[in-house]
Amino acid sequence: MSSHGPAVALTARAGGALNGVADVPGDKSISHRALILGALSVGETVVTGLLEGQDVLDTAKAMRAFGAEVMRDEDGTWHVYGVGVGGFAEPGQVIDCGNSGTGVRLIMGAMATCPITATFTGDASLNSRPMARVTDPLALFGARAVGRAGGRLPMTIVGAADPVPVRYATPVPSAQVKSAVLLAGLNAPGQTVVIEREATRDHTERMLAGFGAEIVSEQTDEGRVITLTGRPELRPQTIAVPRDPSSAAFPVCAALIVPGSDVVVPNIGLNPTRAGLFYTLQEMGADLVFENMREEGGEPVADLRARFSPDLKGIEVPAERAASMIDEYPVLSVVAAFAAGETYMPGVKELRVKESDRIDAMAKGLRAAGVSVDEGEDWWRVHGRGHGAVPGGVTVETHLDHRIAMSFLVMGLATQAPMTVDDGGPIATSFPVFRDLMAGLGAQIEG
Ligand code: S3P
Repeated sequence: MSSHGPAVALTARAGGALNGVADVPGDKSISHRALILGALSVGETVVTGLLEGQDVLDTAKAMRAFGAEVMRDEDGTWHVYGVGVGGFAEPGQVIDCGNSGTGVRLIMGAMATCPITATFTGDASLNSRPMARVTDPLALFGARAVGRAGGRLPMTIVGAADPVPVRYATPVPSAQVKSAVLLAGLNAPGQTVVIEREATRDHTERMLAGFGAEIVSEQTDEGRVITLTGRPELRPQTIAVPRDPSSAAFPVCAALIVPGSDVVVPNIGLNPTRAGLFYTLQEMGADLVFENMREEGGEPVADLRARFSPDLKGIEVPAERAASMIDEYPVLSVVAAFAAGETYMPGVKELRVKESDRIDAMAKGLRAAGVSVDEGEDWWRVHGRGHGAVPGGVTVETHLDHRIAMSFLVMGLATQAPMTVDDGGPIATSFPVFRDLMAGLGAQIEG
């Protein structure tokens, strides 16, 4: 089982305003997809701005194991020489996806309609997460899966030698499940259809179209219906990965709660399937503006400017917005602690099956730090204490979850007493430069 090495405790303390420009790294979701689709096209795909976090590096390694050539230039440009749809070779070793649910689920989809067998594993967090949500639809294509009890990794997938196309309505709002089905559908003859009741991030659909696949999305009474025509010849692309709105969330939220702060986070993708947090913060009274709104590569992009916001108020976050900000609830709950009144967050059951049970992990840490939290299976409520009134002064458990670690470190920049996380190591999975970037703004985070 993989692990990131010995735990590294980190402590964040209040120490003055945050100021400056925060250049956050490339989008994690788009980075995984660029490597996988590059590996499934014939010829050279060139990727700039790739997130070089451990999750994505594990996907690069996996693509090599399936036969693609993946190289990095000294200047950080990546080159993928793909093997084509249906061209994956059988890996000679177990595929270790580390901490990454996106990596393992998308790769399982991509190999499930190839006549090969592969075994997948990950760290303790990933090996406790549910995989049946992916292996159930992959079985409809003709693939077989054998894993541990409860559909957990380590798991072996025997790809379908003679795959059939599938029509599948996703039972949970999950871009990973949708993407696994679409990637499997690439090597099935005919049309594969995915129906999702709530729209989730659409990077796979956009990128498949960019690589030349025939893919159509329609909004119907059933929800979003996505139809992919199988066995396309994917054409290699040049991809500039936009910066990650989920990483931007941390310096943005820190600026809102630390008195005197003024931070600009440039070039952030505001794809509507990802940008829910920023609209939620504005509804809470945040001084958060989108500057230089423009289009790049078919995506809305802006520079985010966040300033200390003394009058934050709690709100009800609409349940239908959950998919567009699912990774941002942990740091939103931190901002909610510094707001006046209650922030109610319904429709978020999926938070319980992320890198950790994120409602449980945040609720425990917030309560220890002096903030009351109520919770149910699919909702939670944070009782804000207002600025300057959050005690802090505790060590919290991060459960191998990068976003829990970063959320509590952001919190510690504005609590009365410092906040310590038991292990900052997992931050490297998605945001390896987090500490340096925050230090550059003036944050005091020490190991
Ligand atoms: C992701 C989808 C989401 C998200 C994850 C990245 C993706 O997971 O939480 O961080 O890149 O498709 P689910 O599909 O499980 O909602």
